[in-house]
Amino acid sequence: MSNQPRHIAIIMDGNGRWAEAQGKSRTYGHERGAESVRAITTYCAAHSDINRLTLYAFSTENWKRPKIEVEFLMKLLERYLKSERATYLEGNIRFEPIGDLSIFSKSLRNVIEDVQKATAHCNSLVQCLALNYGGRDEIVRAANTLCEKGTLTVESLNNALDCPHDVDLLIRTGGDHRLSNFLLWQAAYAELFFTKTLWPEFSTDELESIIKKFKTVERRFGGLN
Ligand code: IPE
Ligand code: IPE
Ligand code: MG
Repeated sequence: MSNQPRHIAIIMDGNGRWAEAQGKSRTYGHERGAESVRAITTYCAAHSDINRLTLYAFSTENWKRPKIEVEFLMKLLERYLKSERATYLEGNIRFEPIGDLSIFSKSLRNVIEDVQKATAHCNSLVQCLALNYGGRDEIVRAANTLCEKGTLTVESLNNALDCPHDVDLLIRTGGDHRLSNFLLWQAAYAELFFTKTLWPEFSTDELESIIKKFKTVERRFGGLN
């Protein structure tokens, strides 16, 4: 039987370069990137073999960017979640955040909580947005919640993570070949695919062709087939 990409994770990179290449501001690239998020999420929700899509939206390192870009991204996120609330419900898509949300404004946290609660019953796809997320930060927070309780195990640490789900297929757009602190633990046996396509131009056709290649890979998990 071929592999099924049950959990797909994407490092959505290249918004800024895409916009700059057309003489536009980086923020315009983020705006268009949000449209790709909608299209890719809708595609995944319509494919029953995919049950989780984790998207890297803002890293713990992205605070280093100019204030104006960071503020734009925070507003875009709030606007996106408000305007997409109906899309989540219509597509039967559950929204879940991962990352340390405590740093966000009250109004952003309220919107995140509202969409999360409103879609808690949805079951065609979990769309998980990684917000102020860093793999190292996630592991340290999980270890801290457990360290009082005695010896850690792979299982106990895994279950204490924001995202206790192994990734099957990890895609990075934008041409770079690195993880940038995304799902360090969960990607232990993920199949990695890198594409030069910049995120605003990443299409469902390209996702489909990556999934097709993924299905032909022999996943051995350290064993012998
Ligand atoms: C990814 O696109 C989106 C975020 C990190 C928020 P970038 O903003 O990193 O775009 P490039 O990589 O500079 O082109
Ligand atoms: C990774 O992209 C983070 C997100 C896509 C949210 P970056 O643009 O921040 O990564 P680096 O700085 O090129 O490694
Ligand atoms: Mg980038």
